Amino acid sequence: MNPIDIAVMAAGKGTRMKSRTPKVLQKLAGRPLLGHVLDTAAQLRARSVVVITGHGATEVEAFGANLAGAGAGFDLQFARQEPQLGTGHAMQQAMPRLADDGLVVVLSGDVPLTEAATLQALVDAAQGERLALLSVTLADPSGYGRIVRGAGGAVQRIVEHKDASAAERAIGEIYSGIMAVPARLLRGWLTRLTNHNAQGEYYLTDVVAMAVADGVPVVAHCIQDALQVAGVNSPLQLAELERAHQLRQARALMEAGVRLADPARFDLRDDARRGVRAELRCGPDVDIDVGCIFTGRVEIGEGAQIGAHCCIANARIEAGAVIHPYTHIDGEAAGVHVGPGALVGPFARLRPGADLGPEVHIGNFVEVKNSSLAAGAKANHLAYLGDAVVGERVNYGAGSITANYDGARKHRTVIEADVHVGSNCVLVAPVTIGAGGTVGGGSTITRDTPPGGLSVARGRQAHIANWQRPAKPQGGG
Ligand code: UD1
Ligand code: CA
Repeated sequence: MNPIDIAVMAAGKGTRMKSRTPKVLQKLAGRPLLGHVLDTAAQLRARSVVVITGHGATEVEAFGANLAGAGAGFDLQFARQEPQLGTGHAMQQAMPRLADDGLVVVLSGDVPLTEAATLQALVDAAQGERLALLSVTLADPSGYGRIVRGAGGAVQRIVEHKDASAAERAIGEIYSGIMAVPARLLRGWLTRLTNHNAQGEYYLTDVVAMAVADGVPVVAHCIQDALQVAGVNSPLQLAELERAHQLRQARALMEAGVRLADPARFDLRDDARRGVRAELRCGPDVDIDVGCIFTGRVEIGEGAQIGAHCCIANARIEAGAVIHPYTHIDGEAAGVHVGPGALVGPFARLRPGADLGPEVHIGNFVEVKNSSLAAGAKANHLAYLGDAVVGERVNYGAGSITANYDGARKHRTVIEADVHVGSNCVLVAPVTIGAGGTVGGGSTITRDTPPGGLSVARGRQAHIANWQRPAKPQGGG
């Protein structure tokens, strides 16, 4: 078999996106469209990939180079196309980077959902010496190039919509924009292209008639699934493909036994900011309610339950944990760990470095950052724990906070096992609350407390008898 070399067309402007971001860098599931195409290329075990760039070339090339640097598994090159004179002209720019012994697979940077198996079938159909076109039959084929077949059904040529006769426009089978063609043959055909057509462009699709004239067999591999060849031209189409992609991911999870309350209300995305690919791993009997968004790498253990409308990024949630609705978890780079049987939320916020032990309870409007809570510790209402080490069975009262930041540096708070921190306490770090101690409500603790006993640090309650409330002046106004 010939080595596979891939050419990705990515020079177009994408005017209808009305965006400053180049179209192929628009994100689907948190990953640029071009990233999806290059993933598919990697699955095909391509020898090399040439990306044809034009609009936003520097940004597009920077993205590609970064991906290749991260070990994409193929040799990545770029070919500039300036100005953009059509798809044939685009391929003319790529040819100097494509070797004669290869089979060239032509892809578009804005068609993200093509499956590797489909491309492999196209490669197989080309048999190293034919021109193989990926086609699909559409109920509404308008705008696309039509596959024109002869009496015996053999492909004769492709006619672009704008050049097509009424009879040709009635053809439902369209060219997807994806073909596989021996480089040696393509090179010759491309030199013969003209732009004598309705759009004044150099059409790559004109090589089909040339192949037929040269006696090179042309085959069309026709697929049923239009999503695999659907391109993104507008925000609406981007959203439609996003939904289709999410539904695919949801179905795959459900086939693996995950119970999604509604596969249409599920999202799993790359963490683009940290370059973490989307990966949701679930043990048996995981329930996920509607409207959850998972980002980056998330692990959920056996029997854990995720309530409605949670955002969970870069986190490991262990068996039997329950995340109640509207909880926000973002581990960023440090990660978040929720121990077995822990209860979190509703309306809780776990930030990087939150590490909850077994059976920990984190209630509503509690924020935890860079803090560990040992088994059975509880912070049930309206509280903040930052840079804290919290011992087993600690009860951390409503409205209490660790004052961990002095404006310049962060300091640690240690709350030893079995401590009760009352409501509305301020623990000014660095500070240690000794094991088994109790901190009276409303205390501002600035010094370490010994184990056991009660520590109180607040103004004493006073009582003034016969005290007169100020009275409003009578009459007047
Ligand atoms: C092309 C095909 C058409 C097919 C359709 C499928 C041609 C002449 N026509 O249509 O038969 O049905 O795709 O979507 O090939 N691009 C460049 N440089 C250019 C022009 C385009 O890089 O000079 C890129 C675009 O960014 C895009 C891809 O090529 O990624 C396809 O271009 P587009 O204009 O969307 O396709 P059409 O030419 O309309
Ligand atoms: Ca065009």
